Amino acid sequence: MNGEPRSVHAYPMQRLLDVLRQELELTGTKEGCGEGECGACAVLVDGALVVSCLIPVAQAKGANIVTIEGVTADAGLRALQEAFLKCGGTQCGICTPGMILASVHLLSKNPRPTTDEIREGLSGNLCRCTGYLQILEAVAQVARA
Ligand code: FES
Ligand code: FES
Repeated sequence: MNGEPRSVHAYPMQRLLDVLRQELELTGTKEGCGEGECGACAVLVDGALVVSCLIPVAQAKGANIVTIEGVTADAGLRALQEAFLKCGGTQCGICTPGMILASVHLLSKNPRPTTDEIREGLSGNLCRCTGYLQILEAVAQVARA
C-alpha cells in the first residue's frame, strides 16, 4: 500500500474502497456513484487503473496498490496539481483524486498524448462541475512541459 506493507482484518468481499477509507484512513479516495461508473474511487492496482468500489478486498491481497496519498512528485503529482489549479480543473474536488490517478496512469504509459488520447485516458472519470475542458487542458499542459 503506497510502498509499504499493510495488513487489515476485513471480510473478503468488503469493497476495497471501504477498506481504504475506513480501515486504512486513506480518505483521499472518494466515493461517487458506488457502481463503477464515475471513477472517483480510482486507484492503481499492480499498475492498472481500477475502480475500488467494484473490487473485493480479497482480490487486492498481495497487490501493489497506489492511492492518491501515494502519488509522489516523481510521478508528476506536483505538476498535475499546479496545472489543475491553474486551469480550473478542480471545483468541488470529488472527482479530482481519480482524475489525477487516471492522468498519472495515462502519462506513465503515454507521456505525449494527443487531445483524443487524453479524452480516452480520462473517459472513465466523470466530473459534474468543470465541463472537462479545463481538466483536458491541465493534462495537456503537463504533457507539453
Ligand atoms: S464510486 Fe467507484 S466508480 Fe464511482
Ligand atoms: S470538480 Fe466536482 S465533480 Fe469534478
